[in-house]
Order: sequence, then structure tokens, then C-alpha cells
Amino acid sequence: MAERILIFDTTLRDGEQSPGATMNQQEKLQMARQLEKLGVDIVEAGFPASSTGDKESVALIAGALHKSRVVALARTVAEDIETTWRAVEKAAFPGIHTFIATSDIHMQHKLRMSRQEVIDRTGQAVRLARSLSDWVEFSCEDATRSDPAFMCQVIQTAVDEGATTINVPDTVGYAHPDEMSELIQIVKKTVTGLENVVLSVHCHNDLGLAVANTLAAIKAGARQVECTINGIGERAGNAALEEIAMILNTRKEAFGYYTGIVTEQIFHTSRLVTSITGIPVQPNKAIVGANAFAHESGIHQDGVIKERTTYEIMNPESVGIAKSSLVLGKHSGRHAFRERAKSLGYILTDDELNRSFKRFKDLADRKKTVFDEDIEAVIAEEVLRSDQ
Ligand code: KIV
Ligand code: ZN
Repeated sequence: MAERILIFDTTLRDGEQSPGATMNQQEKLQMARQLEKLGVDIVEAGFPASSTGDKESVALIAGALHKSRVVALARTVAEDIETTWRAVEKAAFPGIHTFIATSDIHMQHKLRMSRQEVIDRTGQAVRLARSLSDWVEFSCEDATRSDPAFMCQVIQTAVDEGATTINVPDTVGYAHPDEMSELIQIVKKTVTGLENVVLSVHCHNDLGLAVANTLAAIKAGARQVECTINGIGERAGNAALEEIAMILNTRKEAFGYYTGIVTEQIFHTSRLVTSITGIPVQPNKAIVGANAFAHESGIHQDGVIKERTTYEIMNPESVGIAKSSLVLGKHSGRHAFRERAKSLGYILTDDELNRSFKRFKDLADRKKTVFDEDIEAVIAEEVLRSDQ
């Protein structure tokens, strides 16, 4: 039986920490509504203690969503946790996400706290959060550079105090898939009382491994994944939601898991993030890049015209893109050119096709992008020439 993987979207919190990605309240609300439409299980709406504006945005989102859980981030500090609870408490399904670093490097240089102090703070914070909310997530920041034995002690404390989700973040994108898998297995073996606790992962992309690490963690037992639309986030970003959802969907037989993501909403959601943040998506980005369903070479175009699946492993409609595109350039063939002429309203004789195609190829050698207007101009002239 395929198992459900919960999707925890942090576009509005970690994603917004991307340089230049700040969103105003209305934009955050619009984004949150779209995330709910996309089928996200948990929306991390912000970090209320970080600013008054963020606290207000979180409260606005909490009041607006009916299906997705709305949670927000808090340090393991009583004031943060109380502020966070006040911001989310009106949600249909509210939650508190509290975190503290567990790696020596963070404890020594950033927190300036001993291991025992971190354990004590974890216990106090989770106890307070659980007195307010039925849903509490605890994260060990920089988990992948932590001493696993100590990290498990901290997690045990959080579980004993009633945390309902335990998150293992690869905060600096340092782990590789085997390590991520091993770490999840260590937590499962060492910590007791995990039967009713959801294990989660949160992977950053500094080495380009965020999605691979997320998949490795799922295979090792994680049942919640934290991700962002278009993979935006601190530095090189977070694991991309659209990639995880489409991998699990396209390769069901290889993984055997499913999500509640309405994949047809993926492209629209991606575009919304771009238009709100102004952060463009690279053209070759998997799933949502402009070239993800575009074909330029003649051999590929010929294949796709004859049978789409020759060069496409996903149907563009399944992610909300109307159809694949045949980009006409210097590598394109006669077959695709004839199809494009037809779509522009020209049924060409063989002679017209030969002449137009030759001129198009000359143009494509000179010009990086050949627009439909260029193709139309070439064809119109050649058709006119046949009429004279
Ligand atoms: O990357 C990280 O460790 C985080 C935590 C707050 C979960 O974003
Ligand atoms: Zn993060």
C-alpha cells in the first residue's frame, strides 16, 4: 500500500528569507490561498516574533485557510512561542514550530550554550508550546552537523514533552543522501515513543542535493517533507516542492508514496511566486522552467510530433502547462516547421515549404531567437512569390 507523504510548505517563511523575496501582507495572503489550492498539508506562514508585519500576515493567513494547517516559527523562547500562538490560534488547524540548534558549531559560536542548556531549553519550549497547541513541531537546527547521539537526546526530550512532529533539517545543505538516510534511521532506532510522531526533513540546496536528500529521508522513514515553491530559500534555497511532488507522482512504482498535491496547480503556483517576488525561474529548471517541456532539435521535435512520450516523461497538462512547445531554431527540422506554419494558418505546397524552410534556417543561424513573427514574415513572402 502506498503511503502518504505530508507536504509542509515554507515558501512564506524560509522562502521569504531568500534575498529579495520579501512579500507584503496581501501578497502573502494570496500566496497562502494558492498553496491551499495546491493541496499543501501544512503552510508555514512566517516567523511572528521577527516583525509586527510578519505577525499580522500570519494572523491574516490563519483566518483565511480552511483546509491546510497554518503554523509559524518560534525560537525556543517563551515570548516567541506565545507570540506565535496568538498569531496562529484562529486557524482551523493551527500549529507551533519551535527550533534550536544542536550542532557544536552553532551551540558554541551562535547560541553560546552548553549541551545541557540546549536540552533544558528544548524541554521548556515544547512543554509550553504543547500547553497551547495540539500540534507542535520541534526542529534540531543544523542536525546534519550535530553529534547524532546528542541530537537524539534533544529529540527524546522534545518527544517526552509531547512534540507531535520531529524535524531533522540539513540547515546548510551539507549532507549527502546516504548520510541523510542514516541519520533518519538513527533517530528511529534511538528515540523511543515515536509511534505517534511524524518524522520530517528539511533540506537546503547548497550542494544541489536538497531533493535527493529529501527522497533518501523518505525512504528511511520520514513522512513529512519541508520544501518551497521553485526551491526559493536561504542561500541556494530549499528542496523544490514541485520536484518532490512530481518525482513521487511520475515514479510511483520506484518509490511507492503519494502526496495530496494537486499537480495541475503547480505551474500557476510557480508563476505566482515569480510574479510576487520578482525572482525568475531558470529556463532549464525541472518541472516549471520555460524549457521543461520545450523541444528544439529536429530529431526530438519529429519524435514528439509522432508520439509525445518519445521525449517527455510527464504530460505538461499534469503540471498545469497547456502543451509542450516546439521551439524553432537552427536545430529544428522540416516537420516541425510545417506544423508551425499550419498553426499560423499556412498550408504550404512542397515548393513553398522548401523555400521558406531554407530561409528560416539561414535566419536561425543568425538570430538567437526566431519568433513566430519572423517565421510568418518569411512564409508570407515565399507564398506571395508563388502567387506572382
Ligand atoms: O534550515 C533550518 O534549519 C530551518 C529551521 C528553522 C527548520 O529553517
Ligand atoms: Zn531552512
